[in-house]
Amino acid sequence: MHLLWRINVFDLFFSLFLIYLKCNRVKIISHDASVKKGGNITLSCHLIETENNLTHIVWQKQTRENPKQETFLIIDKDGKTEHKNDLLDKVKFIGNIKEKNGSVQLLGMTLMDDGIYTCIFIFPSGKNQTNINVTVLVPPVGNVTGKTLVSSHFNIILASCVASNGRPAAEVFWRLGALNDSLRTEIGYTEHTDGSVTAVSQILGAPSKDLNQKKIQCVVKHSTLTKELELDYIINVHYPPELVVISPDDPTQTQEYLCSVDCNPTPTSYIWIKVNGSTPRSEGNKLFIPKSSSDFNGVYICTASNRYGSASGFLYVNNTVFMQSLYCCFFFSFLFFLKLLLVFKTLHNWHKQQQPQMYVRFWCIAENLYNPVDGKPSKVNVKCED
Ligand SMILES: *[C@@H]1O[C@H](CO)[C@@H](O)[C@H](O)[C@H]1NC(C)=O
Ligand SMILES: *[C@@H]1O[C@H](CO)[C@@H](O)[C@H](O)[C@H]1NC(C)=O
Ligand SMILES: *[C@@H]1O[C@H](CO)[C@@H](O)[C@H](O)[C@H]1NC(C)=O
Ligand SMILES: *[C@@H]1O[C@H](CO)[C@@H](O)[C@H](O)[C@H]1NC(C)=O
Ligand SMILES: *[C@@H]1O[C@H](CO)[C@@H](O)[C@H](O)[C@H]1NC(C)=O
Ligand SMILES: *[C@@H]1O[C@H](CO)[C@@H](O)[C@H](O)[C@H]1NC(C)=O
Ligand SMILES: *[C@@H]1O[C@H](CO)[C@@H](O)[C@H](O)[C@H]1NC(C)=O
Ligand SMILES: *[C@@H]1O[C@H](CO)[C@@H](O)[C@H](O)[C@H]1NC(C)=O
Repeated sequence: MHLLWRINVFDLFFSLFLIYLKCNRVKIISHDASVKKGGNITLSCHLIETENNLTHIVWQKQTRENPKQETFLIIDKDGKTEHKNDLLDKVKFIGNIKEKNGSVQLLGMTLMDDGIYTCIFIFPSGKNQTNINVTVLVPPVGNVTGKTLVSSHFNIILASCVASNGRPAAEVFWRLGALNDSLRTEIGYTEHTDGSVTAVSQILGAPSKDLNQKKIQCVVKHSTLTKELELDYIINVHYPPELVVISPDDPTQTQEYLCSVDCNPTPTSYIWIKVNGSTPRSEGNKLFIPKSSSDFNGVYICTASNRYGSASGFLYVNNTVFMQSLYCCFFFSFLFFLKLLLVFKTLHNWHKQQQPQMYVRFWCIAENLYNPVDGKPSKVNVKCED
């Protein structure tokens, strides 16, 4: 009797345990999903391992549009659907209630549809439910912006790379190549009310003239883009004339000289003067000197200007018979050694060619560094070459 009772109690507990196991084997197969804005998405939700027949499947959502949980679809045991009014052409039941498949398709997804969707299986005895996170992705729009800079020693923003309205935020960075060590980047994010994010990567540095025309590249990466977006940018730096060189336009004939200037933008004016002489014949950056006459000997100055400053270059013209040129050497003492050098060179050539007339010429380079803040020269460096 006692033993029998014990066996019955054991059986009872064992049966309850089996029922418990069975109930807990109920499983809902579903997974989170993401979709590109404007696209269609399937939310799959499938109940397995239960013998119970369903009475309803109910779908609810909590979205950016309406953060309060609301029911938007009810499917009854015969497969008849009942939609929330305005969603009739946006939601499609594609499952099968007999097979306990509650899958739905949502069409034309917008950022407002982003949120948590709940799939609920209702039985006569209770319910089982699961949440599905739905993320709507938006490809960012990439753009590089920058303006013409004026050379200075101060660190400023050189260019900005913008990845607008991406969801989630895009990854933005710069490929700087050799400039990597001299420039710095800073990234910032702005979240918009619709959940999209604008990412901006700014590049900072001192806009030196060395950066002018340097090519850099901004890269935008996002899960919606099949390949990364590469946006090229060319840095444009304006600077005053720094180096003026006067040299023969054509090395074989020294009647036409050219004033070449290192500056950005190109000079707006060239002024030619002859020291202690009449205005020479010139046209823009060109100077014309008749070859045959020593009347034109002397020092010529080309002053080139753009809107940031000006700088000058010097040209010493000495059209003379070889022997006389030695006297002239002392006239411009600062050119003396260079001139000697040239004399030796010409002598060498003269012996080779036996020409009666020698054209000795010099040109000097004036390197003027201007302070871009007040426009005054901060350093003047004169150097001459033959
Ligand atoms: C979404 O589904 C609708 C209706 O089935 C179809 O017309 C449309 O082309 C689909 N859109 C995309 C992006 O697949
Ligand atoms: C479910 O429905 C089928 C047919 O409609 C029926 O044969 C079966 O007994 C039902 N199962 C339960 C657990 O009610
Ligand atoms: C549920 O229904 C969808 C749409 O018909 C289908 O793609 C999916 O394979 C079904 N799931 C299962 C587990 O049968
Ligand atoms: C399904 O519902 C039953 C009864 O309400 C509950 O015991 C069980 O834990 C639920 N299972 C899941 C996976 O939600
Ligand atoms: C789903 O969303 C909820 C609420 O935003 C979050 O707590 C949860 O971690 C998300 N689940 C997954 C798998 O992303
Ligand atoms: C990039 O930005 C500039 C300035 O805001 C704008 O003029 C240009 O149209 C933009 N380009 C693209 C491709 O969006
Ligand atoms: C650029 O500089 C950063 C930090 O200074 C360094 O981590 C990175 O490797 C450099 N990249 C290249 C291509 O040199
Ligand atoms: C130009 O003339 C001035 C005065 O007439 C004189 O002092 C100066 O040395 C001359 N310069 C040259 C390069 O001839």
